[in-house]
Amino acid sequence: MIGFAAGDLSKDESYKLLSSAIVPRPIAWVSTLSADGGRNLAPFSFFNGMAVMPPTIVFSVGYADGNRLEKDTYNNMMATRECVVNIVTEATAEAMNKTATELPAEIDEFAFAGVTPLASVVVSPPRVQESPIQFECKLHQSVRLENELGRSDLMICSVVYIHVDDAVYAGDYKIDPQKLHVVGRLGGPHYTTTRDLFQMTRLPSQVNKQEK
Ligand SMILES: Cc1cc2nc3c(=O)[nH]c(=O)nc-3n(C[C@H](O)[C@H](O)[C@H](O)COP(=O)(O)O)c2cc1C
Repeated sequence: MIGFAAGDLSKDESYKLLSSAIVPRPIAWVSTLSADGGRNLAPFSFFNGMAVMPPTIVFSVGYADGNRLEKDTYNNMMATRECVVNIVTEATAEAMNKTATELPAEIDEFAFAGVTPLASVVVSPPRVQESPIQFECKLHQSVRLENELGRSDLMICSVVYIHVDDAVYAGDYKIDPQKLHVVGRLGGPHYTTTRDLFQMTRLPSQVNKQEK
């Protein structure tokens, strides 16, 4: 085994190790509005659902490289405390990738990537019409992760409204995995589809409830 002390890793080295080992990652395609109403859309794969009740989604925004200090998504979340997390599928993967391009804050990434803004029900940022599942969210809390190695900001978001396209809804509050065609992020330029499925059934409880 090769071992790495986290304290010795540069940002690049840590990114390469974590992003190619923690795979596949779902992708939050996050739409936000700036304080003056400008639309923003960007992907975040350090993302997951973190609680069922209350329904909670978490994604993390790293520090921007280059000339900018903060990413637009971070600035917009701090200003408005709202976002929509749109699920990325094979059909929208290329558009999602375009929205990861470093662009001036005033550029509308919906237009840049050729996707359609659709009015949300509860929050102000629009959703991506082409995404089959959209989570309208309010920022519950942001948590700054910062030490001498670097900085990231965790966005802990309360889900306030969930949209599911009829085409992927299996009824009974379930999504059909055969129809969703969601994509996952691997390390570097690699992505995966979710077409190769297998099933396992949970074993019955081995605790004798009468003995408890
Ligand atoms: C699939 C994918 C996943 C990404 N995941 C993250 C992430 O988890 N955290 C992050 O800070 N940046 C991530 N990025 C990079 C951002 O999308 C990129 O910095 C983007 O320009 C930020 O846009 P903004 O300034 O409009 O917020 C990811 C990019 C791609 C293509």
